Amino acid sequence: MDQKERVQAIASVSTDTIPAEFIRPESEQPGLTTYGGQALQVPVIDFSDLHEEILVGSIVDASCKWGMFQIVNHEIPVEVIRKLQQVGKEFFELPQEEKEAYAKPVGSKSVEGYGTKLQKEVEGKKGWVDHLFHKIWPPHTINYQFWPKNPPSYREANEEYTKHLHGVVEKLLRALSLGLGLQGEELKVAVGGNELVYLMKINYYPPCPRPDLALGVVAHSDMCAITILVPNEVQGLQAFQDGHWYDVKYIPNALIIHIGDQIEESNIESKTLHKPKSIKALSHRINMDVGAVLRVVKGIGSELENMDRANAVVQPPPYNSTSISTALFVAALLNDTNAFSSLSTSIATAAGVNVDANILSNGKYKSVLHRSTLNKEDTRISWPVFLEPPSEFEVGPHPKLISEENPPKYKLKKYSDYVYCKLNKIPQ
Ligand code: SIN
Ligand code: FE2
Repeated sequence: MDQKERVQAIASVSTDTIPAEFIRPESEQPGLTTYGGQALQVPVIDFSDLHEEILVGSIVDASCKWGMFQIVNHEIPVEVIRKLQQVGKEFFELPQEEKEAYAKPVGSKSVEGYGTKLQKEVEGKKGWVDHLFHKIWPPHTINYQFWPKNPPSYREANEEYTKHLHGVVEKLLRALSLGLGLQGEELKVAVGGNELVYLMKINYYPPCPRPDLALGVVAHSDMCAITILVPNEVQGLQAFQDGHWYDVKYIPNALIIHIGDQIEESNIESKTLHKPKSIKALSHRINMDVGAVLRVVKGIGSELENMDRANAVVQPPPYNSTSISTALFVAALLNDTNAFSSLSTSIATAAGVNVDANILSNGKYKSVLHRSTLNKEDTRISWPVFLEPPSEFEVGPHPKLISEENPPKYKLKKYSDYVYCKLNKIPQ
């Protein structure tokens, strides 16, 4: 990629405006879609709790209700986290040419390397973020070519963090397993056992002159089993709850945990496809004021009268958030539950989303829909580690969790096929 296309390079010359390709559609702009400036306190779990049932209970609660929580007293020393953050920051502060030596090779199938995501699927829009991906575990999967040699302590800092991470991973997987009524080690076995891959990502979000218009990483749920994330001190993670985007309040030194798709799959469309209770609720969801909604109603009223309901939104994918909102809007105007639900299902299917799809927990835990926003003055950095099955490993509902009353809602599938389908919006 051309060096000047790195967001860091674009940010260094952007003083009060940003290039058009970073301006999100209104339905995604944080300035218009962040809920009332009120931060969300996601559940906080004390990992030093000696009573396993209490720990399991609170992890299960948080995973069923939120799909996101923070862990305190996790036994990863503060200095280990500080060093991980320091070396990552120093890498991104190197001259551009030096970073390019770690660029993801052209045509490489793996995500590993330094890069900038091209979000061609969202109307050519781009996220205000550069990244570095590399595996940190198991040892035989590591490609040191993607681990920066500068700063010289990069490797040591990452190895130290990985060493301490194992305890957290084991404890989390055990609690989630017990919470499903399985034996302590069964969930880990089901997501790859000792071959479970730890994929490190550094997200580097330079200051953005228009944080109200741009996003870092757009709305998504993580494809892996679980994500363990360390942020720096700059606010920017948002979670989608009850139809709204909230800032997630950080607790210093806590680890942020996301439940990923392999534990339960769902995403923006399936989480937002519910029949709105009223025009007011709908207007809130699609970020339009009631007056504007009513004006649209008037504008398209005659078309609606003549509309063939069955074919109302049968448009080819990909659906962008605007056409999904419009489709939902039309469905709500029809005020017909059956039409609405078949409509939502057809939109979701066409958009590559199986509204009922869920994986290992067969529906019990929730994966969390989240996105990241930017700051005008400060650089935000985050270090998620994705715990994912090896690419050839097959994932599906755990055999012990399916029965005649609770039939499998998801097919057994290789992790690499899952990723391919999700990235290409192919129905699962
Ligand atoms: C991500 O979900 O990829 C980014 C989250 C963050 O930066 O906090
Ligand atoms: Fe994520």
